[in-house]
Amino acid sequence: MSATHSRHASRAPLAVKVALPIGVLFTAVASLATLGDVFATSSAYTELPAPAAAMTLPVVQATGERAADPCGEAEVRDALAAGDDAAAVAAFGGGEEFRAAVTAGNAPCISLQDPNRSWVVINKQRPLRPETFEPGALTRVSLQSTTPSNRLRPEAAEALARMAAAARDAGVGVIGINNGYRSFGVQQLTYSSHVRSQGQERADAGSARPGFSEHQTGFAIDVVACDSGCTGIGAFGDTAQGRWVAEHAWEYGFIVRYEHGETGTTGYLPEPWHLRYIGTDLAAAYHDGDFRTLEEFFALPAASDYDF
Ligand code: DAL
Ligand code: ZN
Repeated sequence: MSATHSRHASRAPLAVKVALPIGVLFTAVASLATLGDVFATSSAYTELPAPAAAMTLPVVQATGERAADPCGEAEVRDALAAGDDAAAVAAFGGGEEFRAAVTAGNAPCISLQDPNRSWVVINKQRPLRPETFEPGALTRVSLQSTTPSNRLRPEAAEALARMAAAARDAGVGVIGINNGYRSFGVQQLTYSSHVRSQGQERADAGSARPGFSEHQTGFAIDVVACDSGCTGIGAFGDTAQGRWVAEHAWEYGFIVRYEHGETGTTGYLPEPWHLRYIGTDLAAAYHDGDFRTLEEFFALPAASDYDF
């Protein structure tokens, strides 16, 4: 955690600049890991109310060039209404500005629980709402696939195709896909088959329970190396493609969602093959900030396990 704190601390001036005035007030009160989400929450979660102290602190004057109330900006509102996530992040001023506003509680129009948005955070503490959510639009990925579950949100499918082409051009070989979108029903089958073959504890370390998988959003994909026939997902990390993806996926809007050493935060063993699309601006901020989990990126609590 200390590394995380120092990373965050090193970016404090920017966060202050973009989040004024509310952000300064709230960050000063501490214990605000979940506040960004509190303000974005509709009703699915019962989270802590804003501390009374935050309401009584004097207003700090904004001095930065970013909007003090980004959600009041027409550009942000229009992009959100149009369902254009990339434009919405850009309208905040970029990925880091978006992150800073959300984590400071200064972006009530942004819900990290909305499964239609590329910034949604799904983990063992944050199920999909509704549980059986289905994405509106899915498109078949234009890569070799080893299962019929080869659809993604259009923007993620397009980014994946560009990433695979870049990997091929860089000479690291062919990238194919294993699983993209999995419905609630397919996740039920997937998870229960893991429980049957490995027992529940081991299954929970590598497979999300139905209603808790990023795959159900259409923003997550398991990639494989396909040189002379595709390998399984478990082999991906040790392939040339796996090493290239770990270094370059962010350039195409993806993060490796479950990294080595982060099980205590993500709840899952490392999965170098599981990529999550968050868009290029947010992925650049994630990379530049040296983040290792989406939870830390958005200052959310660790999700090492379920509550049940
Ligand atoms: N393997 C990941 C955690 C999932 O099932 O979504
Ligand atoms: Zn996966």
